[in-house]
Amino acid sequence: MSNLLAIDDISEDFAEILEWAITFKGDQEVAPSFTPLDGMSVGSIYEKPSTRTRVSFEVGIDKLGGNALTLLKGDIQLGKSETVGDTAQVLSRYLGAITYRCYAHADVVELAEKSSVPVINALSYKHHPCQAAADLMTIMENKDDLKNVKIAWVGDGNNVLHDLLLAGAILGCDVYWAVPKGYEPDSDVVERAEKLAEISGSKLCQTHDPIEAVTDADVVYTDVFISMGEEDLVDKINDFKGFQINDELVSHAKKDYLFMHCLPAHRGDEVTDSVMDSDNSVVFDQAENRMWAQMSLLTYLIDQEAWSTYSELMEY
Ligand code: CP
Ligand code: NVA
Repeated sequence: MSNLLAIDDISEDFAEILEWAITFKGDQEVAPSFTPLDGMSVGSIYEKPSTRTRVSFEVGIDKLGGNALTLLKGDIQLGKSETVGDTAQVLSRYLGAITYRCYAHADVVELAEKSSVPVINALSYKHHPCQAAADLMTIMENKDDLKNVKIAWVGDGNNVLHDLLLAGAILGCDVYWAVPKGYEPDSDVVERAEKLAEISGSKLCQTHDPIEAVTDADVVYTDVFISMGEEDLVDKINDFKGFQINDELVSHAKKDYLFMHCLPAHRGDEVTDSVMDSDNSVVFDQAENRMWAQMSLLTYLIDQEAWSTYSELMEY
């Protein structure tokens, strides 16, 4: 049984999972009646708010013939009178899979250890693999050869960067990340990405200079400077002066660069309206692709046979 806690859990089949999602998105014939989750319920636990993750999972599960149950932390026993491990064992008796948005990454690890059904990390403080799947799917839709793509991250060394870095390294993209001193990504994640890059030929490069990262980039990516759970760190934003994605900074990127953001965006902080709303921006395609990428992932993790059957049928 497979879980998805970080994007490198599915390194081997990652490219095919994304091709599956792109094919499925454009397929008007077979996809509408493809229901591998028929008769199954998938539960999603949220300790933090969500718009994209919640709606894209609910709608995607529904489209695959399943029943989506959203479990908000305030409404269930988890964290009050019940442990993560006991919750996992109880939910496994009812559900075909569990998605979990939590604070501590250790909690989703524990849920996966104790669950007898697949567990998908729907964002922890350390990883956001579903976002990276949608992001690389969006890049694939727009760029012919991923091995010639330079991704520039400008901002915090956070959960979204961690999985973007791993995902880029799996697929052979060059990834440059510009972060203020003290906000570097976790070293164990960088080490994992470096190992993947040795196989794929990616170039990985950390800098503290946003212009160095963005120069000649095909993709310019940012995220909020203050993540969920860090609301008390009000002064953190002062450390990100010079890290805003604005017209001047993107003038160093390739002309046909893609602007990407996982959303929600804090317009005026990490990105200006002029960049968010420019023709280069694919942020709403990314949001849509959360659903298609997760439908591929759900099918892959829950019913490998149905997933392979669809691949063979579509012969992409
Ligand atoms: N990008 C993302 O995960 O958005 P939500 O917080 O709205 O789910
Ligand atoms: N880094 C952000 C991503 C939100 C989708 C957070 O964790 O809040």
